[in-house]
Amino acid sequence: MSATIKELLASEAVRDGVVAQGWVRTRRDSKAFSFLELNDGSCLKNLQCIVDEGIPGYEHIAQCTTGAAVRIDGRLVASRGGAQKWEVQATAVTLLGGADESFPLQKKGHSPEFLRTIAHLRPRTSLYGSVFRVRSRLAYAVHRFFQERGFFYVHTPIITASDCEGAGEMFRVTTLAPGADDFTKDFFAKQAFLTVSGQLEGETMATALGKIYTFGPTFRAENSNTTRHAAEFWMIEPEMAFCDLVQDMDMAEAQVKYLAQSMLDESPEEVEFLGKFVDKGLRERLEFVVNRPFERLSYTEAVAILQRSGKSFEYPVAYGQNLQSEHERWLTEEHCRCPVTVYNYPKDIKPFYMRLNDDGQTVAAMDLLVPGIGEIVGGSQREERLDQLQANMAQHGLSEEAYGWYVDLRRYGSVPHAGYGLGFERMLMFVTGVPNIRDVIPFARTPGHCEF
Ligand code: 4AD
Ligand code: MG
Repeated sequence: MSATIKELLASEAVRDGVVAQGWVRTRRDSKAFSFLELNDGSCLKNLQCIVDEGIPGYEHIAQCTTGAAVRIDGRLVASRGGAQKWEVQATAVTLLGGADESFPLQKKGHSPEFLRTIAHLRPRTSLYGSVFRVRSRLAYAVHRFFQERGFFYVHTPIITASDCEGAGEMFRVTTLAPGADDFTKDFFAKQAFLTVSGQLEGETMATALGKIYTFGPTFRAENSNTTRHAAEFWMIEPEMAFCDLVQDMDMAEAQVKYLAQSMLDESPEEVEFLGKFVDKGLRERLEFVVNRPFERLSYTEAVAILQRSGKSFEYPVAYGQNLQSEHERWLTEEHCRCPVTVYNYPKDIKPFYMRLNDDGQTVAAMDLLVPGIGEIVGGSQREERLDQLQANMAQHGLSEEAYGWYVDLRRYGSVPHAGYGLGFERMLMFVTGVPNIRDVIPFARTPGHCEF
């Protein structure tokens, strides 16, 4: 492997004997030489190469078209043009893999819709290259955030028999023939699904290791064709023993701030580029998120504010109903004008595992809402009292037989504990300004779409 273009462009001095390899973005031919702009994905910038007529390989220059893979041997010299610091004066050019005129990324300005149909090629564009470099760095920052705070990374199962959220949005995993429904004869001798959340298993690990987090793929068969829902998405789920709802909200806010800061620190080139072409307010928003405190509202306060707002929403606001995303967006974008955590929701609209508050009506739930997206985090303090958990399960129709292992955590050394789920793609949308979840996942799975 040769040095990347990013490494070459960061060079301190002129260098002989360099090798640059990448894909041709553009070629311009002059009388006695050609300019090749190479990009290898290591950074946003291209490396300009000057290829003189007559050097070895120049006879193939006509095939070094946009999209072709090329190797340049040469000398890194100060650029004579103004745009970049360094360029390569080629001593040899090698065509590694040609790309004919059917290469679809010849010209700029394709729509995101079209680019989704060529998801195998779109990472070679400046926009998607930027998004996927950010995705990698953000994933690393997630691990850093938790590892620096003494959390252990645990792997929870992808195939599971439990329905954590109880929303009936699970994909079945089966080896039965189509039409067969005797699940005792199925692979696992019971019904099995792709996980919607690693939380329940995460709780078992937190009540042993103290502070844990999961970071893995989750699956939801919700047929909501929105810009913020995918059928396969990555979730980060910390779970903390000896933790209450307030500490849980503190941690979620700290994490969102940390990830926004990491975007500014580690992806300055992408912040500038995305700020120019995708979201003019990006840098300002990231700085705002890092520097300013977030707000908090109880569900009861939020409902009262929404009802007083005078806004006519598509869905009416009523105490006891779930907040719709239009309500969440209004709260964070118009009312608070900053990220806001809504907490203490009515128990009837939340899953069985959330801790009942002393009022007997609400549970210790929280959702962190951000401008432009709405809900980015959902979490809660968990019900740690055995009898109350059993009562919740009975109400939700969950059998103690199936969830006995989960109930055991309340039987043996039960402690207050709490956690949350941060949607990784939603966080990516927030730090890049990319408005559609389909454009922050290399290969998005949404209703009707499982290409590639
Ligand atoms: O609010 P949710 O459903 O919470 C849970 O699953 C809890 N078990 C988490 C926990 O307490 N450990 O999902 C958490 C987050 C949401 O706030 C959202 O950011 C993201 O996951 N999310 C999705 N992202 C993309 N596509 C979908 N279909 C999503 N559903 C949820
Ligand atoms: Mg939620």
